[in-house]
Amino acid sequence: MRIFSGIQPTGRKHLGNYIGAIRQYVDGQDRGEAIYCIVDLHATTVPYDHAGLRASVLDTTAMLLASGLDPARCILFRQGDVAEHTELTWLLSAVTAHGDLNRMHQFKDKSARQRELVSAGLFLYPVLQAADVLAYRAEEVPVGADQRQHIELMRDIAMRFNERFGETLVVPEHRIPEIGARIMDLQEPERKMSTTGSSEQGTLYVLDEPRAVVKKLKSAVTDSGREVIRSPEKPGVSNLIEVMAVIRGTDSARIEQEFDGAGYGAFKQAVADAIVEFLAPVRARYAELREDEGALEAVLGEGAERARAIARETLADVRERMGVGPPRRVSG
Ligand code: TYM
Repeated sequence: MRIFSGIQPTGRKHLGNYIGAIRQYVDGQDRGEAIYCIVDLHATTVPYDHAGLRASVLDTTAMLLASGLDPARCILFRQGDVAEHTELTWLLSAVTAHGDLNRMHQFKDKSARQRELVSAGLFLYPVLQAADVLAYRAEEVPVGADQRQHIELMRDIAMRFNERFGETLVVPEHRIPEIGARIMDLQEPERKMSTTGSSEQGTLYVLDEPRAVVKKLKSAVTDSGREVIRSPEKPGVSNLIEVMAVIRGTDSARIEQEFDGAGYGAFKQAVADAIVEFLAPVRARYAELREDEGALEAVLGEGAERARAIARETLADVRERMGVGPPRRVSG
């Protein structure tokens, strides 16, 4: 089983990223051949701090290693190091419907937020994401629920390619966790927790100090009741129950039983304590790993070589099928 996923470069990874995605990346190493990519090219599709991008990639590398990715058991690399991704993006754009790109929720949301320029890159973002996965003929893509539409699109692209040019690409499946696929903002529990568009108080970062975690949890928006139960009218409490269930490795019903009659105050304190304990080892390892930039670059460099060896083969097949460039040389 080949597993692939990508993550945007920012050191400010939040609890949603960790629970929805990073935790699954770590598991993936035991389930198959795991390949993870820090997507610096995707980061350029909206206004960004270009002087800080390389540092952000290293922040994310350190964060992923601190969370348990092991370069001996997975391939971890930077997207911009493997030029095959960009070439495949162009080739796949031939079998991508303009109308489908126009329907992408993320494109609609992000383009509505742009003040100056809605870049063509933002429009093509999902094609680059398809290229990321399809270049490795990955079978499974661990992601949070917000990426469902992008995975559907990459499946369509792969199928259309295979229909038109012959069986070449693997049609991947998403792997969205049963609980924790959509962690909500602590201040506005009707919207997902996100790096952009959420308030500082509503977003719990993996690297937040224990004091900040407790403070954010204490001020988390709940409702005027006091019962710790899940309900559509109680999005704030339901979210905290889900977070607690993931951390405890149990289901939400168990958490409801445990906190039956406890009241919101005690429950929030318990969730804060659990989160602090859950993230403490990641914070500690992060601080150590982040210092050694040479070591982080070495991990990425080695990962890129291994990634390139796989992607190169797919690209040669795609070019051959599409009639692009000279005919493929038959070796031997
Ligand atoms: P990114 O960096 O925004 O998010 C990384 C992962 O975190 C998940 N996630 C969440 N999960 C639960 N609750 C939340 N509130 C929450 N917010 C984010 C995301 O679903 C994601 O899995 N487009 C991708 C990056 C990408 C990619 C790929 C993913 C590029 N190429 C190829 C898979 C395969 C993104 O923006 O992730």
